[in-house]
Amino acid sequence: MKPIQVGLLGIGTVGSGVFNVLQRNQEEIRRRAGRGIEVAMVADLDVERARSVVGSQARVVADAREVIANPDIDIVIELIGGYGVAKALVLEAIAAGKHVVTANKALLAVHGTEIFAAAAAKGVMVAFEAAVAGGIPIIKALREGLTANRIQWIAGIINGTTNFILSEMRSKGLDFDIVLKEAQRLGYAEADPTFDIEGVDAAHKATIMSAIAFGIPVQFDKAHVEGITKLSAADIRYAEQLGYRIKLLGITKRTDKGVELRVHPSLVPSKRLIANVEGAMNAVVVQADAVGTTLYYGKGAGSEPTASAVIADLVDITRLNTADPEHRVPYLAFQSHTLSEAKD
Ligand code: HSE
Repeated sequence: MKPIQVGLLGIGTVGSGVFNVLQRNQEEIRRRAGRGIEVAMVADLDVERARSVVGSQARVVADAREVIANPDIDIVIELIGGYGVAKALVLEAIAAGKHVVTANKALLAVHGTEIFAAAAAKGVMVAFEAAVAGGIPIIKALREGLTANRIQWIAGIINGTTNFILSEMRSKGLDFDIVLKEAQRLGYAEADPTFDIEGVDAAHKATIMSAIAFGIPVQFDKAHVEGITKLSAADIRYAEQLGYRIKLLGITKRTDKGVELRVHPSLVPSKRLIANVEGAMNAVVVQADAVGTTLYYGKGAGSEPTASAVIADLVDITRLNTADPEHRVPYLAFQSHTLSEAKD
């Protein structure tokens, strides 16, 4: 069977990882997907950079709309980021009948309802494993591995930049600004690092997990968001003396009054596993009724860890794409209630 044809929008850090891992592991991936997966087209404003990654293996264009307009492309991967152009392109790809894979947590947390409704109407899939906690397969864990459970709460370190900053401030006594620059240099931080340090990025991710765990619409505007900019080295030191580490946690919880959704610095007892998650690593704890507590740990950012999640979605779509459409399970089934109505 002809390989499924993929168009990649944006070939920076994550896009190159996707291309390289698909090439390196192509045999295993083909076996698991039941069909080959081929990046046939790449769109990037920096055409030279794109060519240096893909060589002659894929057609490179500057205009993403050329990829979307190509009838041979089955799946579009959106790795542009942000709400503006990315939103328009994702909606255009859906309208053109393409499945979409995206790592864009900001887009889904803010415009997810519109995007998923468009995808459902068109009968295409929008997959987003890479949008939350990078390489940790937390979306699949919530949706598949824990599907028998009633989830009670989720708490996670889901922003590598802030965890790196807090870790370095604690262990090396470094200043906030110096460590932030280092996080940017290492490629952990968002293009606008305000999203990291003010807790917005973590809130985007917590919003998506909340929607999946509790079957509610994505409602980023209902989240309480507080970052780490007001923390000083002294706060971190005092917490340590009292037996705690300060972690920026994204928390979502079922309560009598509805679903809570919040991001803020939290005091975590130093002996807890999650307190010992250091550097840019991510970790998510899920409390559910049947299985109890489970913990997911791994790299929340970076080229190949994020590519690993993007490719997992490509494989899922490839498998489902060959199955009977009548039996497809929607990627994110929404219910009509709001956060405050999602009660026990
Ligand atoms: N800026 C994000 C982080 C990248 O630091 O976790 C991955 O979403």
